[in-house]
Amino acid sequence: MPGFDSIARIGYGAMVLEGYYGGIEDAQGVEVLRHAIERGAMIDSADAYGGGHNEELVAKAVQGRREKAFIATKFGIVFDEGETGNAIETGWGFSLNINGSTEYARKSLDASLRRLGCDYVDLYYLHYPDPKVDIEESVGAMAHEVEAGKVRHIGLSNVTAEQVRRAHAVHPVRAVQYEYSLWRREAERELLPTLRELGVALVAWSPLGAGFLAGAADAPPEGDFRNNNPRFTGDNLQANRDRFAPLREIAESLDITPAQLALAWLLHQGEDIYAIPGSRKIERIDENAKAENIKLPEDVLKKIDALAPVGITKGATLV
Ligand SMILES: NC(=O)c1ccc[n+]([C@@H]2O[C@H](COP(=O)([O-])OP(=O)(O)OC[C@H]3O[C@@H](n4cnc5c(N)ncnc54)[C@H](OP(=O)(O)O)[C@@H]3O)[C@@H](O)[C@H]2O)c1
Repeated sequence: MPGFDSIARIGYGAMVLEGYYGGIEDAQGVEVLRHAIERGAMIDSADAYGGGHNEELVAKAVQGRREKAFIATKFGIVFDEGETGNAIETGWGFSLNINGSTEYARKSLDASLRRLGCDYVDLYYLHYPDPKVDIEESVGAMAHEVEAGKVRHIGLSNVTAEQVRRAHAVHPVRAVQYEYSLWRREAERELLPTLRELGVALVAWSPLGAGFLAGAADAPPEGDFRNNNPRFTGDNLQANRDRFAPLREIAESLDITPAQLALAWLLHQGEDIYAIPGSRKIERIDENAKAENIKLPEDVLKKIDALAPVGITKGATLV
C-alpha cells in the first residue's frame, strides 16, 4: 500500500478524461489510468469531474489492484441539482456552488467511496473552501472520516495561507492542491512559505498550464474548456505565446520536451512539490514521468526565473 512519501512526485490528473480538453472513450481512459497506477502515480480525481463519472472510471482501473493505487478525490463543488451551495467566482466567466458543511462532507465521501468501489481514499480534499462555512467545520468533518478509517490523509484545494493555518490547527493537513506552474507562480508568494512552515506538501494542478507549456499554444477549438481561461483568449494568448516561446528553445537545447522542462522545473522548486499532469495518451504519461529524473543545471534555472517571474502571464484568474 503506497504511503504519501513513497508515491511518484509526478502523479496523474484524471480530469482530462472527462472531455474538458477533448474527448476519449471510457475503455481507453481506463487503460490510461491503469498505466498511471502501474507507474506509481497518485491518481487525482474529484466527485465533480464528469458528475461522478470520473470516479467510476477510476473504480474500473483500480479493480484488482487497490493495494497498488494511491487515490485522491475531492468534495465541495455541488454538481447534483438537488443539492445547495454557496456561489464563488472563478474568474473563468462562471461561478461554482460550494458546500463545505459537515453533512455534505459525510454524504459526499460515502457517495465517492460507492462510485470508487473502495472502502477508503488515500487523500481526501476539500475542492474549494465554502465562503459561508468555516473551514474548521469542513476539516473537522474530514477528520471524523480519518477516525472512521475512510480517509488516510486530509487535503485542501484552492485555499489561502490563512485558511491552511486555521484548518491545520484542527487536524494535520497533508497536502494543498493549487494551480502552480511556470505561468502561474503566485503560490510562491505566501502559500508555499506557509505550507513549508507547517510541513504540508503542495500538489500542483495544471502543472503544464492546461497544455500551454507542453506546446498547446494555438487558440483552443470550439467547445474546449480552455476558452473560459483568459490566458488562452484574445490578445492575451499571443502575448503569452511570445513571452514563453524561449522555454521551447531551452527544452530543445537540453534534449527534453517542453512538458518535461515544465515538470522538472516544478520539482526543482522543492522536495515537497508534487505535480499531477493530465493526458489521454499513455506515451505522454511515460514522457511526463521521466521529468522526475531530469536534473536542470543552475544556469538554466536562473534563465527560466528571469523569463517567467511571478505575475508575468497575461490573463490572471482568481484562484
Ligand atoms: N483542484 C483544482 O481546482 C483543479 C483544477 C484543475 C485541474 N486539477 C487537477 O489537475 C490535473 C491537471 O490539470 P489540467 O488537466 O488542467 O492541466 P495540465 O495537466 O497542465 O495539462 C493537460 C493538457 O496537457 C496535455 N499534455 C499532457 N502531457 C503532455 C505532453 N507530454 N505533451 C503535450 N501535451 C501534453 C494534455 O493533452 P492530451 O490529453 O492530448 O495529452 C492536456 O490537454 C487535472 O486533471 C485535475 O486532476 C485540479
